[in-house]
Amino acid sequence: MNCNCNAELKRKLESELEKYADSGKGALIPILQKAQEIYGWLPADVLEYIGKKTGIKPAKITGVVTFYTQFRTKPAGKHLILLCQGTACHVNGSAEIESAIRGRLNVGEGEITEDGLFTYNNAACLGCCSLSPVMMVGDKTYGKLTRESTVKILDEYAGGAV
Ligand code: FES
Repeated sequence: MNCNCNAELKRKLESELEKYADSGKGALIPILQKAQEIYGWLPADVLEYIGKKTGIKPAKITGVVTFYTQFRTKPAGKHLILLCQGTACHVNGSAEIESAIRGRLNVGEGEITEDGLFTYNNAACLGCCSLSPVMMVGDKTYGKLTRESTVKILDEYAGGAV
């Protein structure tokens, strides 16, 4: 394996791949989820290795990784922010929330903050349009956001209150 990763991570990935050895191509999503759980993101050499071990073509793997917002191809901060850019959220002011996030954290889309605390990503509809505009921080959902409430939420995470 050509991964620039430590032996323990390698061992865990090997063991996960063994579990799915007989599951065929349908197991790609759970394999990617496990790999991301192990590494915190999906480095290119890990994806290449998964392709070699499963026989799944690189184009198929890349297609799945880029289609689902849950997969990260860059290292992530401690807290992953997903800001919904779906239609309802767009109409109800996601641009204002995006500006608040960027201003408070000084990050662009897909970037990690300098202190390693946050990664900011845009996402398609998060499935709770009646609460728009919506963002998730980790597995928590925050709705009816305003510029002020967004900054307050981020301050709470930055201060370790969440
Ligand atoms: S459009 Fe944002 S949650 Fe559906």
